[in-house]
Amino acid sequence: MRRVGLLTSGGDCQALNAVMRGLAKALYSNYEDMEIIGFKDGYKGLIKGDYTVMAPECFSGLLMRGGTILGTSRQPFKLMRVVEADGIDKVDEMKKNYKNLKLDCIFVLGGNGSQKTANLLSEEGLNIIGLPKTIDNDLYGTDMTFGFHSALAMATTVLDNIHTTAASHGRVFIVEVMGHKVGWLTLYAGISSGADIILIPEIPYDIRIVTGAINERTLQGKKYSILAVAEGAISKETAKLGKKEQKEKLKNRKYPSVAYEVGAQISELTGQEVRVTVPGHMQRGGTPTPFDRILSTRIGAKAMQLYKDKEFGRMVAVLGDEITSIPLSETAGRLKTVDPKASIIKEARSIGICFGDK
Ligand code: F6P
Repeated sequence: MRRVGLLTSGGDCQALNAVMRGLAKALYSNYEDMEIIGFKDGYKGLIKGDYTVMAPECFSGLLMRGGTILGTSRQPFKLMRVVEADGIDKVDEMKKNYKNLKLDCIFVLGGNGSQKTANLLSEEGLNIIGLPKTIDNDLYGTDMTFGFHSALAMATTVLDNIHTTAASHGRVFIVEVMGHKVGWLTLYAGISSGADIILIPEIPYDIRIVTGAINERTLQGKKYSILAVAEGAISKETAKLGKKEQKEKLKNRKYPSVAYEVGAQISELTGQEVRVTVPGHMQRGGTPTPFDRILSTRIGAKAMQLYKDKEFGRMVAVLGDEITSIPLSETAGRLKTVDPKASIIKEARSIGICFGDK
């Protein structure tokens, strides 16, 4: 009997179930003696030994079902080696459960923090295979993560819908897009929905340039402007501060988020009517797009292949058209950010999109 573990960790996304289905189908078709253990609520389940045995039927009907049937949680990496008040060392607990359950390997579906923990467990001697999840697309070493495409579709729909109401009322509309500290989702959603101004963390903005672009549009007779603003976007002044001061400044901001701050400044400086929309977690909900379903199936199949080839301590990665893999140690703790000099930024600028910097 072979037994492998499976867990989904960190923020959920639309394609987690689709990936688990792809992986399970590949495992069950390649091994007759396979048993899959699903840990509940991410690393929490592995720490507590809270799991369920997942027969092949558990994975039926999952391709188009968003969220995760296993549940998830955020388990901060920095707490991992801290022995809690009750004397529990979480890493030791995970190792113990791995051993007691006689696992061959654990498949970790997760983003940045989760792959960092996956790497730690791999360094501790467990057989680990990572699968790259996040709507933020910020995992280093992979061109794409599953979940990104579906969140992009959702953010685009929001921006598309905002267009018609903005046009009717002649207002400035700001849509705040998720993405944590990076601008992938905002950049792509902004371009795909025809936003006029895109603000991302990698290109700090000057509010005078933003309002200048809006005024210019008004002079050209354009009745409305649409801004796609990343939740992590920062102004040039804030970007100049040290990390600690930046954190302090953002914590003490008088507005709930960057979109509201930018909105208030635009209203004051241009005199135009401004509305802010924050779609939030809607971007992570619903069904995966066809692209994500295909990507998820391929990623699941590749993870099985890594297991078969005993290539542990690696994360499945997307490189162009190929599904490949990289060492977990290479991706752990590293962010993939948007390069402000990237060709996509140049192309966006050349059609007149303003990034608030020049
Ligand atoms: O990492 C995915 C993500 O949706 C980010 O885009 C966002 O900043 C964060 O998670 C929200 O986290 P939570 O669901 O814990 O509020």
